[in-house]
Amino acid sequence: MRIRTETKNDFKHVFNLNYTAFGNRDDEAKLVEQIRFSDGFIPELSIVAEAQGDIVGHLLLSKAKLTNEDGDKEVVVLAPVAVLPEFQKKGIGSKLIKEGLKRAKKEGYGLVFLIGHPDYYPKFGFQPARAHGMELTQFQVPDDVFMVCELINGELENSVGELHYPKAFFAAATQK
Ligand SMILES: CC(C)(COP(=O)(O)OP(=O)(O)OC[C@H]1O[C@@H](n2cnc3c(N)ncnc32)[C@H](O)[C@@H]1OP(=O)(O)O)[C@@H](O)C(=O)NCCC(=O)NCCS
Repeated sequence: MRIRTETKNDFKHVFNLNYTAFGNRDDEAKLVEQIRFSDGFIPELSIVAEAQGDIVGHLLLSKAKLTNEDGDKEVVVLAPVAVLPEFQKKGIGSKLIKEGLKRAKKEGYGLVFLIGHPDYYPKFGFQPARAHGMELTQFQVPDDVFMVCELINGELENSVGELHYPKAFFAAATQK
């Protein structure tokens, strides 16, 4: 199994993977496409897991903004991550997430946010974000699923504000 940066040749396979992993629904598959063609796309942070030539997993981290009265801070959001059902529970999702966080840190990002399962993400360093002074109003989600991971020491202590997902996240939703 190989973890590598997504290339153009993977786009169709990544669409199909997200379609299948999310229960034969195209919401997340379309979200990936919207993000890819937006300003928030960071090519090195679209990562695939390849097994015997097939794409079996994908992770996308893209740009978002943390805003407060002092201005905006660029952060990244993790969404989506998916592994083909028959390849799940083998550690592929974990490998993608760890690689994504490592790369995001290398790109200079200090904070990663996500909306996700509170049992899965804490092992990678994610914690409930509102407890750290972060807010999210674009989506109505409980405190424990809105999470943040600190990549650079001190970033959490020195940042508060409201997370704003970019337009791409809403364009996908309205296309349904
Ligand atoms: C969420 C998702 C990406 C996780 O991918 P995955 O490859 O199954 O993730 P992992 O294998 O790293 O971890 C999953 C579980 O398998 C366990 N696991 C990891 N390696 C294992 C192994 N070798 N043997 C048995 N279990 C293992 C992990 O401990 C974990 O269990 P836990 O959640 O109880 O801790 C995958 O389930 C998925 O695609 N779901 C559908 C799409 C989705 O909901 N995405 C998330 C929202 S964006």
